[in-house]
Amino acid sequence: MTSSIPPVLCGRRAALIAAGVVGIGGLAACSGGSSSAQGQGGGQTGGAAGGSNLATKADIPVGGGKIFAAAGVIITQPTAGTFKAFSDICTHQGSAIDQVYDGVMECPLHHSEFSIKDGSVVQGPATQPLPEKTVTVTGDNLSVA
Ligand code: FES
Repeated sequence: MTSSIPPVLCGRRAALIAAGVVGIGGLAACSGGSSSAQGQGGGQTGGAAGGSNLATKADIPVGGGKIFAAAGVIITQPTAGTFKAFSDICTHQGSAIDQVYDGVMECPLHHSEFSIKDGSVVQGPATQPLPEKTVTVTGDNLSVA
C-alpha cells in the first residue's frame, strides 16, 4: 500500500504542510491567496514564480526588500551587495507577510516583525525566525531555492 499527497494543496495551511513535505517546489504550484497590495519604505511585491531569475539586483532596495507573493519568498538586501531570502509565511499563525520597511518584514495579522538580515524575530508574538532560503546571484539576476 502506498500513500500519496493530494495533487493540489493551496492556501496558507496547505502551504505550510507542503513546505514540510515537498519543499518550495510544491509552494510554487500554488498561486494567489496572498495580498498583493503593499510595499512601504522599500517593501514591494512581485508576481514572478520561484526558481530561476526571480529578480534582478536592482529590484531589491538596499536596507529593504521585495515580496514575491506568488513564490512565497521575500528577498532582502540588508547591506549593499548582500542578498537574503526568506519564506513569506509568518511563523506565528501562518499569515503572509506583506510589508518590508525600516529593516524589518512585518506580518499584518498580529504585527510580528522579522529582521531583514537573518529573519530573526524583532517583535512578537512570533517566537521563531522566518525560514531562510538560498539566494543565487548570477550576473545581475537573483534566483531562490
Ligand atoms: S500570524 Fe503573523 S503575527 Fe500572528
